[in-house]
Amino acid sequence: MAFDLRYLGHSAFEINNNENYILIDPFLALFPKYNWRNLNIKEIFVTHGHSDHLGSAIEIAKAKEARITAIYELANYCADRGAFINPVGLGGWVDYDYCKAIFLPAFHSSSTPDGQYAGCPCSILFEINGVRIFHAGDTCLNQEMKIISEMNKPDIAILPIGGHFTMDIKSAVKAADWLGAEVVIPMHYNTFPHIRADVDKFKILIEDLGKQCMVMNIDEVARF
Ligand code: NI
Ligand code: MN
Repeated sequence: MAFDLRYLGHSAFEINNNENYILIDPFLALFPKYNWRNLNIKEIFVTHGHSDHLGSAIEIAKAKEARITAIYELANYCADRGAFINPVGLGGWVDYDYCKAIFLPAFHSSSTPDGQYAGCPCSILFEINGVRIFHAGDTCLNQEMKIISEMNKPDIAILPIGGHFTMDIKSAVKAADWLGAEVVIPMHYNTFPHIRADVDKFKILIEDLGKQCMVMNIDEVARF
């Protein structure tokens, strides 16, 4: 087993690597009973500063003495609020005890919940026990995905499909094609009225590409 991936709702995921936990975009409004206080959380990754992604990152980092990795400006915002941080830029692999990660472009905006500049928005590619998993953050379809595939083809792609603020279904299907991942997981849909999406239609279109589409329910765990 490489790792367990648990869906926490919206764009939030938990990675469990041998009881060492990594959180991505921990916005927990859809899963308020999530038991993070009892978990051995080591690292928290945040794609950008919007509140539906930064979520409870600072609170969790402080309570668990976990570290927040984010783009430089957003990481420093977290540090100013008492969190232990690892500020990064785009394009360089960063080594951790339980994974490695590289921050990559996302085409979106980014500001903190109180309106401060938060650097550029990001996608994040992780490599965990030899498996590469790409979390697209909030983004439109973009040709960087072709370069990502050429350089470090992901095995698993987690893609927003809700439209309005991000890619919609049609663009996300093209993103899955360009990224080359064999497993695709939809996120960032049906949370708010503006981002309604027909996930059954998305699943069919991904399967038409010969890929596996995993539609995850909140608190569901996938093993890779
Ligand atoms: Ni956003
Ligand atoms: Mn968002």
